[in-house]
Amino acid sequence: MSAGAGRGELMGQANQEVRYHVRFTLGQRYLHGVLMTTFIGLALTGLPLRFSHSPWALSFARTVGGFTAILFFHKFCAVLLTTAFFIHLGDVFFRGVVKREKGVFWGPNSLVPRGKDFVDLYQHVRWFLWLGPRPKFDRFSYWEKFDYWAVFWGMAIIGISGYVMWFSSFFGRFIPGKWLNVALLLHGEEALLAVWFIFAIHFFNTHLRPESFPMDMVIFTGKETEEEFRKKRAVEHQRLLEKGQFETTAVVPPLWLKNFARIIGSVVILTGFVLLVLTLVAFFRS
Ligand code: HEM
Repeated sequence: MSAGAGRGELMGQANQEVRYHVRFTLGQRYLHGVLMTTFIGLALTGLPLRFSHSPWALSFARTVGGFTAILFFHKFCAVLLTTAFFIHLGDVFFRGVVKREKGVFWGPNSLVPRGKDFVDLYQHVRWFLWLGPRPKFDRFSYWEKFDYWAVFWGMAIIGISGYVMWFSSFFGRFIPGKWLNVALLLHGEEALLAVWFIFAIHFFNTHLRPESFPMDMVIFTGKETEEEFRKKRAVEHQRLLEKGQFETTAVVPPLWLKNFARIIGSVVILTGFVLLVLTLVAFFRS
């Protein structure tokens, strides 16, 4: 990198050598930030409740002021996550239904699964087994859509059961008492599934693939280089070129943002990995 390019990166200014494709808007990056922070907060506070007999859960509880304090922070993160979830739903409804924006519910830019996703999955498995060429992906791959929809069923099961437990005396007026036990069971098991899925599969898919290793920073910076974009999303790249809609910018993501992403990303991946190991050990020992 030349001295000029280095200064450009420092200031977040134009760099004529590398061009960037904008993948995520600022709003989408904020949404992911809130989702990531609150999910880590909920996992950090929920798992010690679930494995309260484990030595690490007891030490953690002693350090932060007991299980009551942990539950308070759990509920705080839950309210933030629920708010972000409904803001996102409202945004999708406004764009897709009120403004009738094209492509929100169907098409290559939508997160709704299409036939191509199933074909991509089939071809990807063939590629893993050295039986065929690697499939070319569009704006959202089948596993990115799966991650997105997993939050919906997760929110339905974890969210509803969580609020039922939180306001048990209210819900107890309408449902038999044994359903409160069912809510606790569902909440704990689904939470464990979500935590293992995110900290093992989502982290692996996003950051540890050869083309992204050691960390894919696009969700923080919003941009990826033209070359990265062409390699990772060849179908979208080709479509935009054919339609004359392929736009790039020379403005480099600022260095402070990249460093921020590196620090936050590393802390989150490390926390997730530690929680994954602690919960696996506690689960198989109990
Ligand atoms: C978004 C809405 C959520 C609400 C309202 C909520 C609420 C609650 C409440 C009230 C409890 C305490 C239950 C008790 O009294 O024993 C609890 C426990 C727990 N929560 Fe959540 N929670 C939410 C999301 C999550 C998420 C996303 C996770 C995982 C990342 C999670 C993980 C847990 C775990 C593991 C427990 C312990 C369950 C057990 O003891 O078996 N929660 N939650």
